[in-house]
Amino acid sequence: MTLPVAQSPRIELYEDFDLALAEAHASEICHKSELEEHVKDFKYIIPGLFMLAATGGIALAHSGATGIVKERMDMMGEIADGMKIIGGMIKGQKPFDADQASSAAESIAKHAATMPKLFPEGTATGTSEALPAIWQDWDEFVRIAGDMEMRASELTAKAADATAVADIRNEFSQVAQTCSACHQSFRQKK
Ligand code: HEC
Repeated sequence: MTLPVAQSPRIELYEDFDLALAEAHASEICHKSELEEHVKDFKYIIPGLFMLAATGGIALAHSGATGIVKERMDMMGEIADGMKIIGGMIKGQKPFDADQASSAAESIAKHAATMPKLFPEGTATGTSEALPAIWQDWDEFVRIAGDMEMRASELTAKAADATAVADIRNEFSQVAQTCSACHQSFRQKK
């Protein structure tokens, strides 16, 4: 099936931006677990180097993170995995599966609801990519997380009833835009 991407350049832009993140994260998890099985002794060093090579440095932020910073990085990673599942369908790489798309969106909505709790003030430290602007403009940060929850819930409902991927394209894009909106203001640029 040919996707009508030309009609929606904005959708394509956001998809690519956030799917790149999602893909980087998924490859990190995959390589990490594979490698950890085989080289337990070098658990920290080898996957770190491998991830750097595999993802061009994106995974670096993750290695060495502890406590709440690690917790929210993991949460963002799960969100990205969910976006990747649905994004693969949007891009025509996998067949559309209403149940799978809907449950991925539901998990994204749940994460969005708890997101602000994982950003206690003063935790933009160490390997964190969080910007201090989060706490200077806390209301806006919470508003975008709330927007994400709402959009992801809309996607959950729409996907459950959808018969074709075209039915959820717009809702998916709305969710992806909230990722970009928040990262732009509140996450360090690479
Ligand atoms: C309300 C703000 C906000 C929203 C919405 C948001 N993010 Fe994030 N995201 C952040 C911040 C802040 C960080 C950096 C956290 C840190 O390093 O402490 C981050 C980090 C990440 C990371 C890197 C995690 C790591 O291992 O270092 C990924 C991947 C990510 N986000 C994906 C997404 C995706 C995909 C969406 C949308 C479906 C999304 N985010 C929505 C604020 C947000």
